[in-house]
Amino acid sequence: MTYEPQEDSYLLLEYVKQLAYGKVLDMGAGSGILAKQAVYSQQVEEVVAVDIDEQSIEELNRDDIKGLRAFQSNLFANITEKFDTIVFNPPYLPKDEKDEDIALDGGVKGYEVIEMFLKNAKKHLKPAGIILMVFSNRTGKKEIDKIIKREGYRFELLEKKSLDFFEELYVYKIVTK
Ligand SMILES: C[S@@+](CC[C@H](N)C(=O)[O-])C[C@H]1O[C@@H](n2cnc3c(N)ncnc32)[C@H](O)[C@@H]1O
Repeated sequence: MTYEPQEDSYLLLEYVKQLAYGKVLDMGAGSGILAKQAVYSQQVEEVVAVDIDEQSIEELNRDDIKGLRAFQSNLFANITEKFDTIVFNPPYLPKDEKDEDIALDGGVKGYEVIEMFLKNAKKHLKPAGIILMVFSNRTGKKEIDKIIKREGYRFELLEKKSLDFFEELYVYKIVTK
Protein backbone atom coordinates (compact mmCIF):
# COMPACT_ATOMS: atom_id res chain seq x y z
CA MET A 1 0.00 0.00 0.00
CA THR A 2 1.35 3.42 -0.93
CA TYR A 3 2.53 5.50 2.04
CA GLU A 4 0.43 8.64 2.55
CA PRO A 5 2.77 11.60 3.16
CA GLN A 6 3.16 12.36 6.88
CA GLU A 7 5.13 14.84 9.02
CA ASP A 8 8.41 13.13 8.08
CA SER A 9 7.63 13.55 4.35
CA TYR A 10 6.76 17.26 4.75
CA LEU A 11 9.81 17.95 6.91
CA LEU A 12 12.21 16.39 4.38
CA LEU A 13 10.33 18.08 1.53
CA GLU A 14 11.54 21.52 2.72
CA TYR A 15 15.17 20.42 2.37
CA VAL A 16 14.57 18.76 -0.98
CA LYS A 17 13.25 22.15 -2.15
CA GLN A 18 16.32 23.97 -0.85
CA LEU A 19 19.19 21.55 -1.43
CA ALA A 20 18.45 18.86 -4.04
CA TYR A 21 20.41 19.41 -7.23
CA GLY A 22 21.61 17.69 -10.41
CA LYS A 23 20.60 14.09 -10.85
CA VAL A 24 18.37 13.05 -7.95
CA LEU A 25 17.41 9.64 -6.56
CA ASP A 26 14.28 9.39 -4.40
CA MET A 27 14.81 6.13 -2.48
CA GLY A 28 11.57 4.63 -1.11
CA ALA A 29 9.53 7.14 -3.09
CA GLY A 30 6.06 6.00 -1.95
CA SER A 31 3.55 8.53 -3.33
CA GLY A 32 6.47 10.37 -4.95
CA ILE A 33 5.96 13.54 -2.93
CA LEU A 34 9.74 14.17 -2.76
CA ALA A 35 10.48 13.10 -6.35
CA LYS A 36 7.71 15.33 -7.71
CA GLN A 37 9.06 18.29 -5.76
CA ALA A 38 12.57 17.63 -7.10
CA VAL A 39 11.37 17.43 -10.71
CA TYR A 40 10.08 21.00 -10.53
CA SER A 41 13.20 22.42 -8.90
CA GLN A 42 15.44 24.57 -11.13
CA GLN A 43 18.68 23.08 -9.75
CA VAL A 44 17.50 19.54 -10.61
CA GLU A 45 18.21 17.94 -14.01
CA GLU A 46 16.49 14.56 -13.73
CA VAL A 47 14.87 12.39 -11.09
CA VAL A 48 14.84 8.65 -10.53
CA ALA A 49 12.31 7.26 -8.03
CA VAL A 50 12.45 3.73 -6.67
CA ASP A 51 10.46 1.76 -4.15
CA ILE A 52 10.35 -1.87 -3.08
CA ASP A 53 6.56 -1.63 -3.35
CA GLU A 54 5.30 -2.36 -6.89
CA GLN A 55 1.99 -0.59 -6.31
CA SER A 56 3.69 2.71 -5.43
CA ILE A 57 5.74 2.50 -8.63
CA GLU A 58 2.70 1.68 -10.77
CA GLU A 59 0.86 4.70 -9.37
CA LEU A 60 3.86 6.96 -9.92
CA ASN A 61 4.29 5.82 -13.51
CA ARG A 62 0.59 6.41 -14.17
CA ASP A 63 1.22 10.14 -13.57
CA ASP A 64 3.70 10.10 -16.52
CA ILE A 65 5.76 13.08 -15.29
CA LYS A 66 8.42 14.45 -17.64
CA GLY A 67 11.91 14.11 -16.14
CA LEU A 68 10.86 11.42 -13.66
CA ARG A 69 11.71 7.74 -14.11
CA ALA A 70 10.27 5.27 -11.59
CA PHE A 71 11.03 1.58 -11.13
CA GLN A 72 10.92 -1.11 -8.46
CA SER A 73 14.09 -1.74 -6.44
CA ASN A 74 14.97 -3.17 -3.04
CA LEU A 75 17.33 -0.36 -1.99
CA PHE A 76 20.04 -0.23 -4.70
CA ALA A 77 19.49 -3.75 -6.11
CA ASN A 78 18.26 -2.50 -9.52
CA ILE A 79 20.28 0.75 -9.62
CA THR A 80 23.52 1.12 -11.57
CA GLU A 81 23.69 4.94 -11.80
CA LYS A 82 25.34 7.64 -9.69
CA PHE A 83 23.56 10.71 -8.31
CA ASP A 84 24.27 14.24 -7.07
CA THR A 85 21.48 13.97 -4.51
CA ILE A 86 19.88 10.97 -2.83
CA VAL A 87 16.81 11.63 -0.70
CA PHE A 88 15.43 9.01 1.67
CA ASN A 89 12.52 9.01 4.07
CA PRO A 90 13.19 5.43 5.16
CA PRO A 91 11.23 2.93 7.17
CA TYR A 92 12.83 3.82 10.51
CA LEU A 93 10.77 2.31 13.35
CA PRO A 94 11.51 -0.89 15.29
CA LYS A 95 9.47 -3.69 13.74
CA ASP A 96 6.04 -4.25 15.27
CA GLU A 97 5.38 -8.00 14.91
CA LYS A 98 1.62 -7.49 15.37
CA ASP A 99 1.33 -4.75 12.78
CA GLU A 100 3.93 -5.24 10.06
CA ASP A 101 4.29 -2.39 7.58
CA ILE A 102 7.08 -2.20 5.00
CA ALA A 103 6.83 1.60 4.93
CA LEU A 104 7.57 1.82 8.67
CA ASP A 105 9.56 -1.27 9.73
CA GLY A 106 13.24 -0.36 9.75
CA GLY A 107 14.25 -3.80 11.08
CA VAL A 108 14.17 -5.39 14.52
CA LYS A 109 16.03 -2.45 16.06
CA GLY A 110 14.69 0.15 13.63
CA TYR A 111 17.97 1.16 11.98
CA GLU A 112 18.83 -1.91 9.88
CA VAL A 113 17.33 -0.65 6.58
CA ILE A 114 19.19 2.66 7.04
CA GLU A 115 22.41 0.75 7.78
CA MET A 116 22.07 -1.29 4.57
CA PHE A 117 21.22 1.90 2.65
CA LEU A 118 24.31 3.73 3.95
CA LYS A 119 26.59 0.77 3.20
CA ASN A 120 25.59 1.00 -0.47
CA ALA A 121 24.71 4.67 -1.05
CA LYS A 122 28.35 5.81 -1.35
CA LYS A 123 28.78 3.69 -4.51
CA HIS A 124 25.91 5.64 -6.07
CA LEU A 125 26.98 9.16 -5.06
CA LYS A 126 28.93 11.45 -7.39
CA PRO A 127 32.05 13.02 -5.78
CA ALA A 128 30.29 16.11 -4.35
CA GLY A 129 27.02 14.25 -3.82
CA ILE A 130 24.70 14.69 -0.84
CA ILE A 131 22.20 12.49 0.98
CA LEU A 132 19.13 14.07 2.60
CA MET A 133 17.54 11.72 5.12
CA VAL A 134 14.97 11.88 7.92
CA PHE A 135 14.60 9.52 10.89
CA SER A 136 13.36 9.56 14.48
CA ASN A 137 14.65 9.21 18.02
CA ARG A 138 12.86 5.84 18.00
CA THR A 139 15.38 4.70 15.34
CA GLY A 140 18.27 5.35 17.73
CA LYS A 141 20.13 8.57 16.96
CA LYS A 142 23.38 7.40 18.59
CA GLU A 143 23.36 4.24 16.49
CA ILE A 144 22.71 6.18 13.26
CA ASP A 145 25.52 8.62 14.09
CA LYS A 146 27.86 5.67 14.66
CA ILE A 147 26.88 3.96 11.39
CA ILE A 148 27.39 7.21 9.46
CA LYS A 149 30.91 7.54 10.85
CA ARG A 150 31.77 3.87 10.41
CA GLU A 151 30.66 3.90 6.76
CA GLY A 152 32.93 6.86 5.98
CA TYR A 153 30.45 9.74 5.93
CA ARG A 154 29.96 12.89 7.98
CA PHE A 155 26.63 14.60 8.67
CA GLU A 156 25.05 17.93 9.42
CA LEU A 157 21.86 18.11 11.47
CA LEU A 158 19.61 20.35 9.37
CA GLU A 159 16.57 20.23 11.66
CA LYS A 160 15.23 18.59 14.79
CA LYS A 161 11.47 18.59 15.21
CA SER A 162 9.41 17.40 18.18
CA LEU A 163 6.19 15.68 17.18
CA ASP A 164 4.87 14.93 20.66
CA PHE A 165 6.25 13.98 24.09
CA PHE A 166 7.73 10.77 22.72
CA GLU A 167 8.92 11.40 19.20
CA GLU A 168 11.47 13.67 17.65
CA LEU A 169 12.44 13.75 13.96
CA TYR A 170 15.90 14.59 12.60
CA VAL A 171 16.83 15.71 9.10
CA TYR A 172 20.44 15.00 8.16
CA LYS A 173 22.56 16.09 5.26
CA ILE A 174 25.15 13.32 4.82
CA VAL A 175 28.28 13.50 2.65
CA THR A 176 31.32 11.27 2.20
CA LYS A 177 34.44 12.30 4.15
C1 LIG B 1 8.22 6.31 5.27
S1 LIG B 1 7.79 5.83 3.63
C2 LIG B 1 8.27 7.28 2.69
C3 LIG B 1 7.52 7.48 1.41
C4 LIG B 1 7.77 8.83 0.71
N1 LIG B 1 9.15 8.96 0.30
C5 LIG B 1 7.41 9.96 1.62
O1 LIG B 1 8.31 10.68 2.08
O2 LIG B 1 6.21 10.14 1.90
C6 LIG B 1 9.09 4.64 3.26
C7 LIG B 1 9.04 4.08 1.83
O3 LIG B 1 10.18 3.20 1.65
C8 LIG B 1 9.75 2.05 0.93
N2 LIG B 1 10.69 0.98 1.25
C9 LIG B 1 10.74 0.19 2.35
N3 LIG B 1 11.77 -0.68 2.30
C10 LIG B 1 12.40 -0.42 1.12
C11 LIG B 1 13.54 -1.00 0.47
N4 LIG B 1 14.22 -2.00 1.04
N5 LIG B 1 13.88 -0.51 -0.75
C12 LIG B 1 13.18 0.49 -1.33
N6 LIG B 1 12.10 1.08 -0.77
C13 LIG B 1 11.72 0.62 0.45
C14 LIG B 1 8.34 1.80 1.40
O4 LIG B 1 7.60 1.01 0.48
C15 LIG B 1 7.81 3.24 1.52
O5 LIG B 1 7.23 3.69 0.32
